Formats: sequence, structure tokens, C-alpha cells
Amino acid sequence: MGLFISFEGTEGCGKTTQIQLLAKFLESRGIACILTREPGGTAVGEAIREIFLRSSNTALIPLTELLLVTAARVQHIHEVIMPGLAAGRIVLCDRFFDATAAYQGYAAGVPLELIERSHELFCGNLAPDLTLLLDCPLELGIARSRARNKAAGQELSEGRFEDKEMAFHAKVRQGYFARADKAPERFHIIDAGETIESIHENIVSSVTAKLREKGYAV
Ligand code: TMP
Repeated sequence: MGLFISFEGTEGCGKTTQIQLLAKFLESRGIACILTREPGGTAVGEAIREIFLRSSNTALIPLTELLLVTAARVQHIHEVIMPGLAAGRIVLCDRFFDATAAYQGYAAGVPLELIERSHELFCGNLAPDLTLLLDCPLELGIARSRARNKAAGQELSEGRFEDKEMAFHAKVRQGYFARADKAPERFHIIDAGETIESIHENIVSSVTAKLREKGYAV
């Protein structure tokens, strides 16, 4: 079996940049990895992502969100994650189930029991081996992601969550910390307020420690 690593954090925390830097680092060490994301990662998942994130879809209620991300995840696990792990690859995933607990659960109010039960029923309770939680000041992250979406243009806008008020994002952040408290051996919290280079170094040291623990020569 390979190794499953997820990246999490509030909006604009820089995880997409960091996941790409980590993939490059691992490849430079001769370790091939699969870089993927949620919602998305498959053709069906990317189509769901489009519905899920489109700013104009203001009518979506949190329970529908749960069903959409879960459907995308079931497909993603089946098509990408499990085959990748079975082939011994390292799967780097930009968000996974902790995002559902933090956004739909802690922030949007869907009961956590329902969220956990659906993960158990549909996703076999799959958990990453390591979750890197990038933590940065909310205001900084939101400003960064709104600017990025604006630059991408109104049509392509993925801004439905960035458009939410600060109190929502504060609950997402608290939700992530609550998840990390429950699984401290899996979560590594990374200070994402630092420079891109030093965040990358911290991520590399977390990941190489985990790889060595699992018997990889790095
Ligand atoms: P991102 O790829 O830029 O992080 O955007 C994904 C957005 O989707 C982000 O706002 C978090 C949200 N999201 C959920 O609300 N629930 C989920 O289960 C996942 C995977 C993402």
C-alpha cells in the first residue's frame, strides 16, 4: 500500500501552492506521486465541483452540499485514491473528509453524526495517513482567495465559500482544530503565515518523517 496525505486549511491558506511544491520535491527524490483534489479529481467529481462552488448557486443547502461532496468522494476513492494506493503510490489530496466535517458540519450546522455516518457508509471511513493543516490568519487568506477568483473571471468563479461571512470561516477554522485534537497522531499543524519557502521546509520535514516511519528511503 502507498501513502495517503491530505492538505487542509481555511480559504487562501496556500495549500495548493504547497501541495505542488511537495509533489516536485518527492519527484526529485524519485518518489512518484498522484496529485489530486476534492471536490474533484475525476471527470464526474470536477463536474460536481463546478455545481458546488459556483457563486450563483446560492440556493444550495448544507445537506445538499454534503451529498454532492460525498458523491464526488465516492467516485474519487474508486477511480483514483484506492487504485493509486494499491499500486504503492503516494496520493497527495488537496482537501478530503476533514473539509466536510469542518465546512458542512462545524460551520454550516449539519449534524456531525450524520456526516461521520455517511463517511462510514459510503467511503468505508477512509482516513489519510497524514493530514497537513495549514493555518493562517483568516483575513489574509480570504483576501488572497477573493483576489484569485476575481482574476479568474466571473464565469469561472469558484467563490461560493469565499463569499461567506467571516464568522463562517472562523467556525471552519475551529472545526479543523477540533478534528486535529481528536486525531493528533494524524494531523500536523503548519504555520502558513510564514514564507512559502519555510512553509515548504516544515511540510517536507513532516512528510519525510512519515515516509521513513512507513519504510521509505528518503
Ligand atoms: P479549494 O479547492 O480552493 O480549497 O476549494 C474548495 C472549496 O470547497 C473550499 O471552500 C472548501 C469547500 N469544501 C467543502 O465545503 N466541503 C468539502 O468536503 C470539500 C472537499 C471542500
